[in-house]
Amino acid sequence: MSMEQNAVIIRRAVPSDFSQIVKVELSSFERPYPPRLISLLLHLHHDMFYVASVNEEVVGYVVGAKRSDGCGHIISIAVKSKFRRRGIGSKLMITLLNAFKRKGLKRALLEVAVSNEEAVAFYKSLGFKITNLLRNYYPWGEDAYLMVKEL
Ligand SMILES: CC(C)(COP(=O)(O)OP(=O)(O)OC[C@H]1O[C@@H](n2cnc3c(N)ncnc32)[C@H](O)[C@@H]1OP(=O)(O)O)[C@@H](O)C(=O)NCCC(=O)NCCS
Repeated sequence: MSMEQNAVIIRRAVPSDFSQIVKVELSSFERPYPPRLISLLLHLHHDMFYVASVNEEVVGYVVGAKRSDGCGHIISIAVKSKFRRRGIGSKLMITLLNAFKRKGLKRALLEVAVSNEEAVAFYKSLGFKITNLLRNYYPWGEDAYLMVKEL
């Protein structure tokens, strides 16, 4: 197979990506977002919802939103495990950060479970810094870090 056929394409998500995005979500998180929430995000935030596809397979997604305080919020990002460490998560994130910049947003922020060391390392590699500890952030009682990047 040629390199071209295996190329990663980053593009805006469309409604027909729904079931493949749910697959990415279910295979990436111990406590995945319910499909109903993914559907809602696809409809409400479709202008800031991107997927990564390889040979027409959706292998990752990222979704963000503009907050009322003018910050860009990263709602969720995931890449299927067998496609990780190939730069796909970074490509998705950079695409979303560029969308934030086009909207004039000056800062991006996100919350991440303190136990999710892989994700914390990933966000640090993209220039995010831990600014706060959010105690009991998750419904199951776990703390989160607030991480911020100036755009
Ligand atoms: C976090 C996630 C999206 C990263 O996706 P990815 O495509 O593997 O990321 P990249 O290949 O672009 O990684 C970029 C850099 O981040 C860092 N990084 C990524 N995964 C890492 C890991 N498991 N351990 C340490 N550093 C890591 C590295 O510096 C990496 O660069 P390198 O591969 O040259 O060393 C992916 O691991 C994932 O889907 N995790 C499960 C879902 C999740 O936890 N999402 C975040 C919830 S807040």
